[in-house]
Amino acid sequence: MKKSWWKESVVYQIYPRSFCDSNGDGIGDLRGIISKLDYLKELGIDVIWLSPVYRSPNDDNGYDISDYEDIMEEFGTMADFDELLKEAHNRGIKIVMDLVVNHSSDEHAWFMESRKDRENPKRDFYIWRKGRKLNEVSPEEQACLSSDVVEYKGEKLLPPNNWGSYFSGSAWVFDEKTGEFYLHLFSKKQPDLNWENEAVRKEVFEMMSRWCEKGIDGFRMDVISLISKPKGLPNQPIPKGAVYGDSGAACANGPKVHTYLQEMNEKVLSRYDIMTVGETAGVTLEEAKRYANSEGTELNMVFQFEHMDLDGSKKHGFKWATEKMPLVPLKKNLAKWQNGLHELAWNSLYLCNHDQPRIVSRLGEESGVLRERSAKCIATFLHMMQGTPYIYQGEELGMVNYPFSALSEFRDLESINAFSELTEKLHLSMEELFPLIAHKSRDNARTPMQWDDTKEAGFTSGKPWIAVNPNYKEINAKEELGRADSVFHYYQKLIQLRHQSELIVYGDFHLLEEEDPDLFIYERSLGKKKLLCVCNVSENTRSYSVPEKFRSGKVLIRNVERQDAISGELAPYEAFVLEIQMKE
Ligand code: NOJ
Repeated sequence: MKKSWWKESVVYQIYPRSFCDSNGDGIGDLRGIISKLDYLKELGIDVIWLSPVYRSPNDDNGYDISDYEDIMEEFGTMADFDELLKEAHNRGIKIVMDLVVNHSSDEHAWFMESRKDRENPKRDFYIWRKGRKLNEVSPEEQACLSSDVVEYKGEKLLPPNNWGSYFSGSAWVFDEKTGEFYLHLFSKKQPDLNWENEAVRKEVFEMMSRWCEKGIDGFRMDVISLISKPKGLPNQPIPKGAVYGDSGAACANGPKVHTYLQEMNEKVLSRYDIMTVGETAGVTLEEAKRYANSEGTELNMVFQFEHMDLDGSKKHGFKWATEKMPLVPLKKNLAKWQNGLHELAWNSLYLCNHDQPRIVSRLGEESGVLRERSAKCIATFLHMMQGTPYIYQGEELGMVNYPFSALSEFRDLESINAFSELTEKLHLSMEELFPLIAHKSRDNARTPMQWDDTKEAGFTSGKPWIAVNPNYKEINAKEELGRADSVFHYYQKLIQLRHQSELIVYGDFHLLEEEDPDLFIYERSLGKKKLLCVCNVSENTRSYSVPEKFRSGKVLIRNVERQDAISGELAPYEAFVLEIQMKE
């Protein structure tokens, strides 16, 4: 297998708004990040993925960009960014930027031009369509879109199709000025760029090249699988638990997405020694082999979502749910990706990011003595697989979900919109809905990083933009740095192991005990070396007998101290890794 630095790296994701505030305005910023680079160096990570820091009106916390080449005022200046890049590089840490080009902000100069008049040269930078007259639409669809009817020049119009936005409501907004609708797969303030337009691609590629010239080390590409829309933008079936047609399914892996990425690769990516990861909503294994093909004609790796969707609601069919993540489907899914991409493409390994609730709350124990052990256990099975691991800020401390108790505590527009859509249109009661949204809200990941046990967890000297988790006195970086058996030091060890072992980076993967509901056990091999990763991902004490050949193995890491190297019994959430060298 071809070796690459990005295959041997561990990435740490920073959500700048919630990481560290240097000036007391309650919002994290670039100088805050600079002040924590030594912390990251101590953890041992190789790459930072920086969620968007560009100029933005912050409808979606920076994922709505109004200037791709300027810095958000609340985060600092371009000089601060340059210093961050320099200081990170001085410590041997690379920086990967978020690239959000499926859409821009509606406050981007391109969109402001585009909406001025139908003849504007920038009109075609976005996706504008005429509305449909009421009598052209079936009665069923009229009923479904009843709240989206607009009146224009004495005529009643419906949106161009039945697509819903990811953040609730129709995916179309009517613009009075020019009498047409524009498409937004995300919020109304995130109009989709028209990638069919060569001029759009040119602008995007040139902008990317300028960032590469500045010396950044790669891109994480936001919903890049959605950039090529299907011809004719046809209506879509309405999924269970939804009000509108599924626009994501319609656009995922669209007809020209690979052509566009190959063009991007040829014009930008292949000219620099950078890493690229595509956030690919709706990606299948077959599609991933194309996006992340080992020939290197598109991207280095993708984020797939299948494993993150396993704890969605069985009753309603949407993501909002309180069910625990089921282990058997989880390990089978991860094994499918491990084996399916082996030698053909490359995996990214993640369980947390700024869009996902905390994994300890989904799969482990949120409180009590098992919180730390379950956090370490989950980290073990993730970090011993093949692929590039991603750690999301606070994951290395075993941070957990926020105990939401009121609507006013939410900041994320996805959660806030879901409350209104599901109560108003699907008539779910607030009592039923609240625990579901509280458990899955993206805000769980966005509460401030817990640095110490002082006021606001040391995140800010002011009032944080979103509340700090009240458990910060118990869970914080300062305490964990000072304790040898903390989750922090366990992550540090996992990272060191990867840096020292080609087997962990490049070895093949073989799942064992496939149907066992509690145990996640697998083998990795490279040449004569083999590794056995044993994790009891449950609160049960389990009997387990290590296969004969591994009994004399060296223990690489473990989360339960024992007299005997390996016992026949696994404690709740116990995990260990053994390595052997075969003779022949
Ligand atoms: C995916 C990002 O991860 C998410 O945070 C954002 O809201 C959407 N894309 C829209 O940009």
